[in-house]
Amino acid sequence: MRQYTVAVAGASGYAGSEMIRLLAAHPAFQVCTVTGHGSAGRLLGEFSPNLPESLASLQIQDTKPEILAGHDLVVLALPHGASGPLAEQLDPQSLMVDLGADHRLENPEDWQDYYGGPFSSPWTYGMPELLNPGGGRQRQLLGQTRRIAGPGCNVTAVTLAFQPALAAGLVQTNDLVADLAVGYSGAGRSSGRMDLLAAQAINSAHPYSVGGTHRHIPEILQNLRKAAAADPNLGGLGKQPISLGLTPILVPMSRGILAVVSAKLSERGRSMGMADIRAVWEEIYAQEQFVDLLPEGRLPSTADVYGSNRAQVQVAVDQRADRLYAFAAIDNLTRGTAGQALQAVNLALGLPEETGLTTIGVAP
Ligand SMILES: NC(=O)c1ccc[n+]([C@@H]2O[C@H](COP(=O)([O-])OP(=O)(O)OC[C@H]3O[C@@H](n4cnc5c(N)ncnc54)[C@H](OP(=O)(O)O)[C@@H]3O)[C@@H](O)[C@H]2O)c1
Repeated sequence: MRQYTVAVAGASGYAGSEMIRLLAAHPAFQVCTVTGHGSAGRLLGEFSPNLPESLASLQIQDTKPEILAGHDLVVLALPHGASGPLAEQLDPQSLMVDLGADHRLENPEDWQDYYGGPFSSPWTYGMPELLNPGGGRQRQLLGQTRRIAGPGCNVTAVTLAFQPALAAGLVQTNDLVADLAVGYSGAGRSSGRMDLLAAQAINSAHPYSVGGTHRHIPEILQNLRKAAAADPNLGGLGKQPISLGLTPILVPMSRGILAVVSAKLSERGRSMGMADIRAVWEEIYAQEQFVDLLPEGRLPSTADVYGSNRAQVQVAVDQRADRLYAFAAIDNLTRGTAGQALQAVNLALGLPEETGLTTIGVAP
């Protein structure tokens, strides 16, 4: 197999570290260069002692264009706002994947409303299973790109859970609600937040970024709008406005996201029995090796996807409340970040999408 050299910027962070873990097990990649910010000069193993010595012994360098130059693949795992200007100075020949938010949003106003600062033009969105307007899936676009925008972790969970509901027109679009239980690593290693200190977090669950302020909201809506306009044969509603209330809740776990997404049933949804509603998820995910619609009666659990690139999904109807519910569990660092990015990178290089990725979590 052809070998590709890799540089990872932001290697001392959680996302960069997870990317290196997956790349280390991939038959085509050799991580040659790792960079950071405050950690420059230290050894990678100080931050990622889980890595084999050949990688742990790499010295972290400054994140500069000249240090990232000359690699086949450049991974950017930096705080939002840092990768956009940096990417403009990087080798145009390199394949690049940005795990941060800078190249995800298509609408500059969304960027200003939720992030602020200079807007970077969008790159090919790195969620292969996303249903695209008019039919087809995002993986078709990923096969022809050199620039990949890795999706947000909460975005991944909500989109995979709920895009079938929009694609098939099963719900009213003005009342989507998503509540997510989120592990601490979702905030990154260097967030410096007091509420992430073990002493304060370990016996507590509390919401954050409430009241429509979470930065993943516009990205989720961007995805769900596409799904709603997917294959017309599925029965989607097309270009209707979608509104979403989203509340993430920090819970005492290191990794993992459990998303609970619901909306009022549409007339079409009400007219369908549970078996037919379930058949929509079955059809959409039948060929998707990284999305697992669980058998009836089983519900997703973050423990079951820990360390794997699999999303567990389930769907239910509460007839008394007149609402459709969908659930997804993912590992935020694997499926929600680095694993999903590797799916996209594999596609961009013409490799089998699953190369170097596992669908098998650890238990217990
Ligand atoms: N954590 C997740 O679950 C997750 C999921 C999806 C996407 N992401 C995205 O991935 C990116 C990284 O997140 P993370 O969780 O890995 O954060 P993190 O653990 O805090 O790591 C941030 C990394 O960026 C480096 N860095 C900080 N400021 C920098 C600057 N001004 N210039 C260059 N490098 C700088 C840090 O280097 P030093 O440590 O050396 O200072 C560190 O390597 C973010 O954009 C995040 O939104 C994260």
